[in-house]
Amino acid sequence: MFLHLALLLGAVMAAASALAQDAPQRAPFITTPDEVVVEMLKLAGAGPEDYVIDLGSGDGRIVITAAQRFGARGLGVDLDEKLVDLSRENARRAGLAERAEFRVQDALNTDLSRAGVVTIYLLPQLIGRLQPRVLDEMRPGARVVTHAFYMQSWKPDEVRKVRLAQRHAGQGDESTIYLWIVPAKARGEWRARLPALGELNLRIHQNFQEIEIESSGDGGGFRVEKATLRGDAITWSGTLERAGRRLEQRFSGRVHPERIEGELTIAGQDSARLVATRAR
Ligand SMILES: C[S@@+](CC[C@H](N)C(=O)[O-])C[C@H]1O[C@@H](n2cnc3c(N)ncnc32)[C@H](O)[C@@H]1O
Repeated sequence: MFLHLALLLGAVMAAASALAQDAPQRAPFITTPDEVVVEMLKLAGAGPEDYVIDLGSGDGRIVITAAQRFGARGLGVDLDEKLVDLSRENARRAGLAERAEFRVQDALNTDLSRAGVVTIYLLPQLIGRLQPRVLDEMRPGARVVTHAFYMQSWKPDEVRKVRLAQRHAGQGDESTIYLWIVPAKARGEWRARLPALGELNLRIHQNFQEIEIESSGDGGGFRVEKATLRGDAITWSGTLERAGRRLEQRFSGRVHPERIEGELTIAGQDSARLVATRAR
């Protein structure tokens, strides 16, 4: 009897939690102050070649400013139909209806693959659900700027504080904005052959743009001490052994889906092309 009750309770809780997960999650409507909107778009490096998506677009100010002052095009999505109507009206009045589009849509169901820039002023719980989508859908080098809240367990590429002209309901007299540059997927095992040094295995550990590289193989006591990843641009510095001497080595290249390719410089002078392919 007790077991039946426990099973029933478990099933009800699981169903309730599944429902809570499926229900669109609402963040309240609070506007980003205009001076912060401009700083967010500057921090993202938004420009005419960018498609800007604002997730939870409120009165449309971020997408409209991106079109008006940065020459971008964009899309704002919001669950609130009235705010979407207001945004369309604001875009129309600014003569930007063609370049600033608005839809009634859940941020969690919005395709991010087209965006060069995504802006977010939503609650942390919603942001947490968007994080895997940022990595899976956005291309390396695309930028996300969050206002007030950050992405859990990732390190921002840049943090900026913006002093406000007037106190703000959500943020007091200062807003914090965070830049996240989408990194290439570098995690995993890679294999390269270096002239005169032999086979080199690289194991890359990755958490967003933070990477660590372990090396093994005959590659001449190859060690990586410091590595960076920004979009698809990867660099590292370390040492290797040649003719019994430990020499400094530096690499600068790009991460592609199936290969890492770039220039390895040894002892500041000899340089060689290094191509590593994914080990299966
Ligand atoms: C804090 S306001 C930000 C508005 C605007 N982005 C800005 O920065 O001025 C959050 C907006 O997100 C909308 N919103 C909340 N949850 C959402 C969701 N799951 N999908 C789409 N919009 C959502 C709300 O209706 C509200 O307009």
